Amino acid sequence: MSNAELDVNRRKFIGSSMALVSSAAITGAGLVGCAQAQTRSTLVSPAQPGARRKLGQLEVSSVGLGVQNMARTYQTTVPARPEMIDIIRAAHDHGVTFFDTAEAYGPHECERILGEAIAPFRNKVVITSKFGWNIDPQTGERRPGLISRPDHVKQAVEGMLKRLRTDRIDLLYQHRVDPQVPIEDVAGAIKDLMAQGKVLHWGLSEMGLQTLRRAHAELPVTAVQSEYSMFWRGPEKEVLPLCQELGIGFVPWSPLGVGFLTGAIDQRTSFADGDFRKSETRFSPENREHNLALVSLVKSWALRKKTTPARIALAWLLAQKPWIVPIPGTTQMGHLLDNIGAREVAFDTDELQALNASLAAITIQGERLPPAVLAYSEVEAPLK
Ligand SMILES: NC(=O)c1ccc[n+]([C@@H]2O[C@H](COP(=O)([O-])OP(=O)(O)OC[C@H]3O[C@@H](n4cnc5c(N)ncnc54)[C@H](OP(=O)(O)O)[C@@H]3O)[C@@H](O)[C@H]2O)c1
Repeated sequence: MSNAELDVNRRKFIGSSMALVSSAAITGAGLVGCAQAQTRSTLVSPAQPGARRKLGQLEVSSVGLGVQNMARTYQTTVPARPEMIDIIRAAHDHGVTFFDTAEAYGPHECERILGEAIAPFRNKVVITSKFGWNIDPQTGERRPGLISRPDHVKQAVEGMLKRLRTDRIDLLYQHRVDPQVPIEDVAGAIKDLMAQGKVLHWGLSEMGLQTLRRAHAELPVTAVQSEYSMFWRGPEKEVLPLCQELGIGFVPWSPLGVGFLTGAIDQRTSFADGDFRKSETRFSPENREHNLALVSLVKSWALRKKTTPARIALAWLLAQKPWIVPIPGTTQMGHLLDNIGAREVAFDTDELQALNASLAAITIQGERLPPAVLAYSEVEAPLK
């Protein structure tokens, strides 16, 4: 079959999946009237929050796609590779131009899936990847700890370029700050990669504030990627103000609260062994019972706005700042199309105030990550 025929078949599939998603979004969210609402909201407010946004100087779609789970989901199932490629291509067909991966996802495999999926339209999209976890560049074997030594970063990028089938990474993040390597040395490696045209922009993830300042002073940073959602609002205190001050974009990871904000998880949900949500205390049965108040709130706003909980969660993020671009992750076509629809959900000032007041009345109980993983966040790089 030729590429053109494949493309036509894919588009036919997307057409029929659009019909499916309306019902999937409705039943998945337990909502009624959503399909009609989708059409209406598309007509009413396409201009806000808009289809495109800027992270520093980098223009991307206002909703991206995270592909972390495309090799193995939190539910510990292994998704079908061809379906993952279809989802990425459908995202592109629906205007998504911002795709997020990392060498640690798989490891390596999610970069391969993304590289294969975007090959036909590589020059029309922005791809990110991340280095920093100690992963064998050849075998992909995970080793303990972090590694951001300049020679290793350069070697890691060579592998990424091959797996992503490209000659450049549009936005390369340090996945976590290496407590052994001054951030100026990391910036130096990125500068060299930029001089060779192999990296176009850089960013940091979950870094300490001083490290962000030092990194930006050494080599302007395009984006910070840290966890942020209605479920975890930590960045509001200091990280977002610093991004605003320095003109750095912000990319919230787990923008759907690792699925919690979609309404798909309730008190009866039990997590499989190997699903890390089992070890996050915010999902422990006692804390979850309390935290489900947040899900009820999101669902009530979905009803009020005639949309889905996932869209409310993402639209709320988009409403915070014009330089915020969430990257929801999914392995399901219906969920992809649901999430993309967040672009069409806008809150007016009164609505946002009311929603924020209700949010402020809910205190989330439990930690967002297990202590051993949390220890890698907010780390400051050593001085040079
Ligand atoms: N920098 C970092 O350290 C870091 C850490 C974590 C993640 N990330 C990035 O952020 C991306 C997104 O984060 P994430 O995947 O952890 O969390 P997320 O986007 O908050 O949630 C993903 C979960 O929600 C489910 N889901 C997605 N859309 C849905 C919908 N419309 N309705 C119902 N369920 C839905 C997904 O299941 P289905 O697959 O079944 O849809 C999955 O279980 C990742 O892919 C990765 O690129 C970065």
